[in-house]
Amino acid sequence: MAATVAAVIRVSRTVIDLHCHILPGLDDGASDIDVSLTMARVAVAQGIETTACTPHILPGLYHNSGSTIRQAVAALQQRFEAEAIPLRLVHGADVHMCPDFVSGLCSGQLISLADSRYVLVEPPHHTVPPHLEAFFFNLVAAGYVPILTHPERLLWVPSHYEAIGRLVRAGVWMQLTAGSFAGAFGRNALYWAERMLDEGCVHLIATDAHDTERRPPDLDRGREIVAKRAGAEEAQRVVLTRPLAILQDQPPSSVPGPWGARGIRDAEAGSRPSDAELPTGDRGNGGAHSDRVRGLSHRLRRFFNH
Ligand SMILES: [Fe+2]
Repeated sequence: MAATVAAVIRVSRTVIDLHCHILPGLDDGASDIDVSLTMARVAVAQGIETTACTPHILPGLYHNSGSTIRQAVAALQQRFEAEAIPLRLVHGADVHMCPDFVSGLCSGQLISLADSRYVLVEPPHHTVPPHLEAFFFNLVAAGYVPILTHPERLLWVPSHYEAIGRLVRAGVWMQLTAGSFAGAFGRNALYWAERMLDEGCVHLIATDAHDTERRPPDLDRGREIVAKRAGAEEAQRVVLTRPLAILQDQPPSSVPGPWGARGIRDAEAGSRPSDAELPTGDRGNGGAHSDRVRGLSHRLRRFFNH
């Protein structure tokens, strides 16, 4: 019976992409409607049935709002219908961390995924934001499920990895970029993507596509790699089961948790990678895990010497 279920899972190609900069001219994603149309055709060829349009909302740089995004989604959906492109669109945003986040959601200035309790949140890329955990805890306390976008690509995560485990434990979901698993963002992002998957810190993968060449809507490759590492069932969960639950606004308690949950206990305990485990560039962030590895090496040496 289990083999039958696994076989069904393997052949299903329908997936949902919850992070995509496909709306034309709103941010650094699709530059015009032609790019949007090509991205959509690539997405359909990938088996993507629904795409969340998630342009940046970043005060001072990308002045998008809930209402402008809704209008742009409706217009693009109409164009897809005219072009017979079978891609369903829902609205959302790649919302950068900012003050008054909850009130922004309540007023409609900020926007969640398909008006659900789930909202994409992008932290700063280079430096850990002050009050990171308090920010996310406040969102959870307000009834939202924050989805932290592409933690594996954030430069401060290697030195603050324990915070990721604590956030997951507190109810924050993690969305990784599919391309990270294929090495599209370098060895560091690949290392952290694999590690987070192994340690139960990956709820979703999405394309975060911006165009058709440099950052195309490629979900297939990421799903294949997750399937090899975590199994076909979990691969299906990161691209369909959990995304569908989000669009249906199901409570997170009713959704299967991430694979690799045994590992998260290590993350919660504050384990950190040894220098030998880290790709070049992340080295020097050893810590408790390094100490354990060193202790193990010492015990092994003693064992073989006697
Ligand atoms: Fe994005």
